Amino acid sequence: MPKGTGFAPMNLDVLCVFRQQPMSALRKEDLEAQKQERTIFHPAPLATLEPEKGAHFDLYLAIPSLSGQRYVLYKSSELDLTREKCAYLLERGVKNLYIADQDAPAYFEFVDRTLGEKLTSPDTTPEKRSQILYTTTSALVQATFNRPDSPVLIHTNKTLVEHTLKTIVNDPRIVRTMVSTFALDYSLYTHSVNVATLGTGLLLEMKLTEHKNITDIALGYLLHDIGKTRVPTEVLMKTGILTKQELSEIERHPLYGVDLMQSHESIGPAALSVIRSHHEKLDGSGYPYRLTSDKIPLETRICSAVDIFDALTSNRPYKKAMSGYETIRLIMNHMSHELDKDIVSQMIHLLGPKRTAPV
Ligand SMILES: [Fe+2]
Ligand SMILES: [Fe+2]
Repeated sequence: MPKGTGFAPMNLDVLCVFRQQPMSALRKEDLEAQKQERTIFHPAPLATLEPEKGAHFDLYLAIPSLSGQRYVLYKSSELDLTREKCAYLLERGVKNLYIADQDAPAYFEFVDRTLGEKLTSPDTTPEKRSQILYTTTSALVQATFNRPDSPVLIHTNKTLVEHTLKTIVNDPRIVRTMVSTFALDYSLYTHSVNVATLGTGLLLEMKLTEHKNITDIALGYLLHDIGKTRVPTEVLMKTGILTKQELSEIERHPLYGVDLMQSHESIGPAALSVIRSHHEKLDGSGYPYRLTSDKIPLETRICSAVDIFDALTSNRPYKKAMSGYETIRLIMNHMSHELDKDIVSQMIHLLGPKRTAPV
């Protein structure tokens, strides 16, 4: 990726985001896009880019192109982000800049260092706080699933989980605000954040936040499916009936997750236990070890219930999202031998009538 020398000319590049471009320009862009094909870009929400705090990594703008979008260098790593530039982008409705995958550790190290101040600032409203946490965690999970071996990324996951816990313990009402912002279209990243948010909300609802391993448990919720990064994409995305071999590959993802995470210092035994056992069922019909209720810790049962709830209430390529009401009814009527009924009741209570009402 060629390095730039400074800020991109704003009058050209930022405006490109907002207007239709001539075909000739788009063709040229597509050639450039082909060069970018091998680079993965991750969103860097503008809300996380504190100006004048040493953002020493390249930042890109996304510009629509015929093949989707291409990325134009906006700020090179030698320059810091100024207040004026941030304000300029905000005024124009830009919500995200982007980072190349190789810069993800530098960007998230910056987030780790600067986000606390922003979240605790009296100028940040609870709604804004929950929005920052949701968008930042989604971006982080996306980068982490691409680089599960990065200690910096795993450490930042832990920091964000700590911020989320602190935020909801200080203001429990914020869980409902966060849940109402859940993305309905399923992706592994948004699913992970939804499970972590709802699961942490349930820990609070069930008065478990004093648990000594609480951060570790919530970190386990966020990374519960990280083992899916080892399952071939074509198997994960398959919409038809899975072969026996494909099914057994999917059923290995809890153990793949433990294998990927166990060497990280930031991951403790409670997180590994959640990752390992989140598909176990009370009646012993789950995987990978067919554990029965007495062998599945309460915090893992919370993860199992929330995992199923989020999967059913999200849109998939092969099915539309069920309403919260339909999902709770399905769980109560057909999965009561697999999931903890008390947890499901607490989930109904936490989600409230808006999310669980019939539609
Ligand atoms: Fe899973
Ligand atoms: Fe899951």
